[in-house]
Amino acid sequence: MVIEVKSSFKKKLREALKGILNENEMKFLPSGFQQIGTIVILNLKNQLWKNKKVIAEAVQNIVSNCDAICLNKGAIYSQFRTPQIELVVGKSTETIHKEHGTLYKLDVSKIMFAKGNINERKRYPKLVKENEIIFDFFAGIGYFCLNIARLANPKKIFAFEMNPIAYNYLVENIQINKVSDKIIPILGDCKTEALKIKEKADRIIMGLLPSPKDALPTAFQVLNPEKCIIHYEGLLRDSDPPEILLEDVSSINKEMNKKAKLDHIEFIKSYRPHVNHVCLDILVN
Ligand SMILES: C[S@@+](CC[C@H](N)C(=O)[O-])C[C@H]1O[C@@H](n2cnc3c(N)ncnc32)[C@H](O)[C@@H]1O
Repeated sequence: MVIEVKSSFKKKLREALKGILNENEMKFLPSGFQQIGTIVILNLKNQLWKNKKVIAEAVQNIVSNCDAICLNKGAIYSQFRTPQIELVVGKSTETIHKEHGTLYKLDVSKIMFAKGNINERKRYPKLVKENEIIFDFFAGIGYFCLNIARLANPKKIFAFEMNPIAYNYLVENIQINKVSDKIIPILGDCKTEALKIKEKADRIIMGLLPSPKDALPTAFQVLNPEKCIIHYEGLLRDSDPPEILLEDVSSINKEMNKKAKLDHIEFIKSYRPHVNHVCLDILVN
C-alpha cells in the first residue's frame, strides 16, 4: 500500500493524543495515511491496535473530507484481490474516488484500489489509437478501461471481471462515467469468456499480480494476428533482466514467441524490497 506522508500529520496526531497515549506508544504512530474518496486507511503497528478507536477519532478530526477511518490489517493475496480492511470509525466503507477526472465507486473493505498504480491508469489512454478493439482481462471496477474510454477513442473495450462484487461496481462506474457506448462489461473468467467474442483484440490488458500467465493461451487465441499490443504485468527482482518475464510467452507457445517482441517496460511501483511491479508492453505481429 502506498502511504502518503502528510508533513504535519504526525505532529497534529501527537498533539491530539497527548495524555491518552504514553511516550512509547507515540513512537509507533503512523506518519501518513492513504485516502480513497472520503475514506482514510491507516496502517497501524500491532502495538497500537488496542488504541485504534481513539487514534481513528483523532485522525478524523485532522483530515478534511473524510467520513470513515479504516485499518489495513494485512496484505492482499486472494484471487479476487480482496483487501483486509476493518472499519473503525464511520458508517460505511463505500465511497467514490476521483482520479484524472474519472470516478471510481467502490467498497474499500471488499475491493482493492492501488493508488500506486496511478501512472499506469494515466498511461494507457495516451497509447490507445482511434477505433481499437481492447480486451481488459482483469477489469476489476474499471481501473484501466474507464480512463481509456473517457480519454481516448477506442471502438470498444470488452472488460472481463469474475468477482461479482467488483463486476457490479464496474457496471455502475461505466454508467457514472457515461461510457456505456464504449465498454462492454462481462462477468466471468477471461480465460473462457474472451474466447466467445467474435472481434479480435488490437490491445490486451493483463493486469493481475503476481502474474497473469495462466491467461496467456487465451490472449494468443483472441489477438489480432496482424498486430496486437499485450500489456503484461508481473513482478521483477532488481537483479532480473525484464526479458525474464518474456519467457512466460516462450514457455507457453514457441510459435508466438517468435512473433512477440518487447516494445517497452514500465516500472509501476516497488512491490516489496528488491521486487518491482512492472508492465511489459509486448508487441505481437
Ligand atoms: C484488482 S485487479 C488488478 C487491477 C490493476 N492491476 C490494479 O492493480 O489496479 C484484478 C482483478 O482481476 C479479477 N480476476 C482475477 N482472475 C480473473 C479471471 N481469470 N478472469 C476475470 N477476472 C479475474 C479479480 O477479481 C480482480 O478484480
